[in-house]
Amino acid sequence: MPTHAFPPDFIWGAATASYQIEGAAFEDGKGESIWDRFAHTPGKIFNGDTGDIACDHYHRYREDIQIMQHLGIEGYRFSISWPRILPLGDGPVNEAGLAFYDRLVDALLEAGITPFITLYHWDLPQALQDRQGGWASREIAQQFTAYADIVSRFLGDRVKAWTTFNEPGVAARAGHLSGEHAPGLKDMAVTARVVHHLLLAHGMTVPVLRQNVGPDVHVGIVCEQPYLEPLTDDPKDQQAVEMAEALGNYLFLDPIFKGQYPAQITAPDFPPMPIEPGDMDIIAAPLDFVGINYYMRFRIGHNQRWGTQPPRLPDSEYTEMGWEVYPPGMTRTLLNIYHRYHPKAIYITENGAAFNDPAPVDGVVQDPRRVAYLESHLDAAAEAIQQGVPLKGYFVWSLLDNFEWAWGYSKRFGIVSVNFSDGSRTLKQSALYYKDRIARERHS
Ligand code: GCO
Repeated sequence: MPTHAFPPDFIWGAATASYQIEGAAFEDGKGESIWDRFAHTPGKIFNGDTGDIACDHYHRYREDIQIMQHLGIEGYRFSISWPRILPLGDGPVNEAGLAFYDRLVDALLEAGITPFITLYHWDLPQALQDRQGGWASREIAQQFTAYADIVSRFLGDRVKAWTTFNEPGVAARAGHLSGEHAPGLKDMAVTARVVHHLLLAHGMTVPVLRQNVGPDVHVGIVCEQPYLEPLTDDPKDQQAVEMAEALGNYLFLDPIFKGQYPAQITAPDFPPMPIEPGDMDIIAAPLDFVGINYYMRFRIGHNQRWGTQPPRLPDSEYTEMGWEVYPPGMTRTLLNIYHRYHPKAIYITENGAAFNDPAPVDGVVQDPRRVAYLESHLDAAAEAIQQGVPLKGYFVWSLLDNFEWAWGYSKRFGIVSVNFSDGSRTLKQSALYYKDRIARERHS
């Protein structure tokens, strides 16, 4: 294992997202989000689960901060619920919503934990979906910018690290093409518009964050980056990988860092992007960092149906999500993103695994496979640093077991277990491992 790889200013963090943990879905003036609507639509979520209560973090955030403090966690990546701030998406501000994030941020800072805010982790105000088709309509970019302006004016004195979007590719594809996520559409032409408007909203928001937060602002975006490899050495499989990279891994980062979409999306069989003059310059606003969510290797064959996994390899391990555990993919992904775009800084903004955990014994949940997952991926991150990647932090997904989107509460990613009947939290062995690893790295 590489030693002394992690620099002294490395941030050891944990990540969550508003709809997945907050609960209080209809409290204190919060408006409905597309995830509230989707989760309450029969047949959309495993077991009919909803985020109405989730981890009840809205009421239990102090306890969650104490847990992080106990573990030695230094950075907390969380998202703001847009409809908690603007119940209708624009128009009147819900002061109680701002007050919640105000309390949260102050409590984090008191605990010595650096807040990393995500402005959008998929819970769009339903009112905007109803009124204009949400992200399909160009005016969303202005509405998002106005929302970001309100939040960053309010918290920018205390919060310096901001990301506009979490996995915009998943929001676009799962929400508008496969229909597995809210708002549950299956429309290629709409998906293309959504992609462009997400990017435009991102680019328009970056200068607003710089203005409101000040010169010490740290602005970025978070993209999902599975490690893609061809299933066989058939050149057609390699071509299929390149297409999947263009439509997945590079679809957002190429416009942001290179000012242009990957060439593949201008192929005649794709619907046109609604690009207007000046858009690409707005989108390419310089960033301070890129966040990478890395979970797995994904092998691709040219005959495979889009999004489906090939047969399992006998020697590989798979998580409860069916995702292949492949730590070298993290090192290679970090190197690839660094060499392709030369961002000033990179964070692993998510990495973790769902496994079936047993009941607690003596107050601890034993999750040896998650411990091994974290250890091997932290070592893979260290390896990337040794190879020159400016990796500045790691955020485990997730602090808590939570609402795993279409899978409801059936997939547990937490390093802390949540009992969803009474809300109680129990540390897992992986939390203790993380605590120990942070302490060791800090003193090495
Ligand atoms: C994300 C992720 C998380 C998921 C995690 C496990 O986009 O940030 O989808 O919200 O819970 O990736 O699937």
